[in-house]
Amino acid sequence: MTRRTRRLTQRRLLLSGAALLLPVRARASSEIRLPIPALMDASLGAIILDARRSTHAFVAGRPTESLGYSANYLGPTLRFRSGRQASLSIANRMDRPTSMHLHGLLLPAASDGAPPRPVAPGETWRTTFRIDQPATTAWYHAHPHGDTGRQVYMGLAGMAIVDDAVGANPDLPTRYGIDDLPLILQDRALDPSGRAIYRSDGHAMMMGMRGDTLIVNGVADPVATVPAGLVRLRILNGANARNFDLAFQDQRAFHVVAGDCGLLSTPVVRRTLVVAPGERFEIVVDFSDGRPAILETASDTAAVLAARMANPPRTMGRGSGRILRFEIDLSLPIHTRPLPQRLARLASPVVPADAIRRVISLDMGASMMGLGMIPGTIRHGPGGMHGINGKSYDPERIDYEIPLATTEIWEVWPQMMAHPFHVHGVTFRILSLGGAAPPEHLAGDKDTVLVDRPVELLVRFGQPTTKEAPFMLHCHVLEHEDAGMMAQFSTI
Ligand code: C2O
Ligand code: CU
Repeated sequence: MTRRTRRLTQRRLLLSGAALLLPVRARASSEIRLPIPALMDASLGAIILDARRSTHAFVAGRPTESLGYSANYLGPTLRFRSGRQASLSIANRMDRPTSMHLHGLLLPAASDGAPPRPVAPGETWRTTFRIDQPATTAWYHAHPHGDTGRQVYMGLAGMAIVDDAVGANPDLPTRYGIDDLPLILQDRALDPSGRAIYRSDGHAMMMGMRGDTLIVNGVADPVATVPAGLVRLRILNGANARNFDLAFQDQRAFHVVAGDCGLLSTPVVRRTLVVAPGERFEIVVDFSDGRPAILETASDTAAVLAARMANPPRTMGRGSGRILRFEIDLSLPIHTRPLPQRLARLASPVVPADAIRRVISLDMGASMMGLGMIPGTIRHGPGGMHGINGKSYDPERIDYEIPLATTEIWEVWPQMMAHPFHVHGVTFRILSLGGAAPPEHLAGDKDTVLVDRPVELLVRFGQPTTKEAPFMLHCHVLEHEDAGMMAQFSTI
């Protein structure tokens, strides 16, 4: 394939609404081009998605069963503009209940989907809301209680981008699919026929569902063609359980410009970046030297570093190596402005003198693999074997009542291994991580944090709940969450 036809293919992928995520063969037969999810702009009209069964090839030429949102696997990138109204509907075309959470959009609980409010097969869930938040990279994914892990694993997830009301920061690359690329990182356990195997046995329940095939936007080991300049990568860890420990093979530095809930105050130079399930980072990489580059991940040592496990299972760290390769196309127009040194105005966190402090323990259930029993923690509730503060998730129970428009300090403790902790409907700042100030790239507004040591969060409760629609707090290892490591709160 010539450079020109490859570029056209890339452009055609951007324009085609339905046929997104078709991996296109690149030059060598073993090379798969990075699929770019179609862009759907909520300001151009209502977004209508089908949650449906399909087939998808994780590895070239081996199509197997999958799920997708109006796509064979994953869903389109939804683009929202702050200050505007948006409307969204999801038709459940599957044979099991589902629900969809807009992870990273700041909405009233009643406008968001959540585990206790499933959408039955054949039904359609509709929501309308007004977005009012800083520009950010968010996402959406299935969230039916007890089946979240399987549905996300099979493909029910996608990226969302919120643009500022005034137009995103003009000095960062913004050409979607060209110098502003969505990268949804996942891992899959594939059988010899290329089928993604989902297990919910005791092992997966403890470690989370992991696999040794690394995929990005649904395919293993693709190639992305980028201009010889600055390129923004919107990185989402959409894996069920594993952390990605990213670095370029040539050890080049890059700038982290945004975290979960928006821009940082200044770009932060890094050579490595740990991204936990549910977390997002935007990084800017300089390809102006024209050299190809390879993005890799180390094995998942982050999950075990702070673990109280004497002998972490070997499978914990599996799946390392190449995620994708970048090739430079000198004919692509480059982003000509230098990276701005000021990004967002972030006030330093102010802790109110009367702030309520809550202690939250992310508890692992009884041993199934000789990992050691935690005495007296879990009461097996209807939710399963894991819990928060000793209680398994119970949709009938409100765990916290929190006055709206207040700020609290949440002190979150991990048990046995690192847990990515996520709270719906809020943003927080990390006050301390293991007793120290957080590293700079974790110092912005967030909604998900890897709790690999005790962490203190300053949480702002700005969105209301209703009696039927509380907000969730949970571990984003989806098998932990499905097995009960989740609680709910309402605002009063
Ligand atoms: Cu992304 Cu309740 O989760
Ligand atoms: Cu967990």
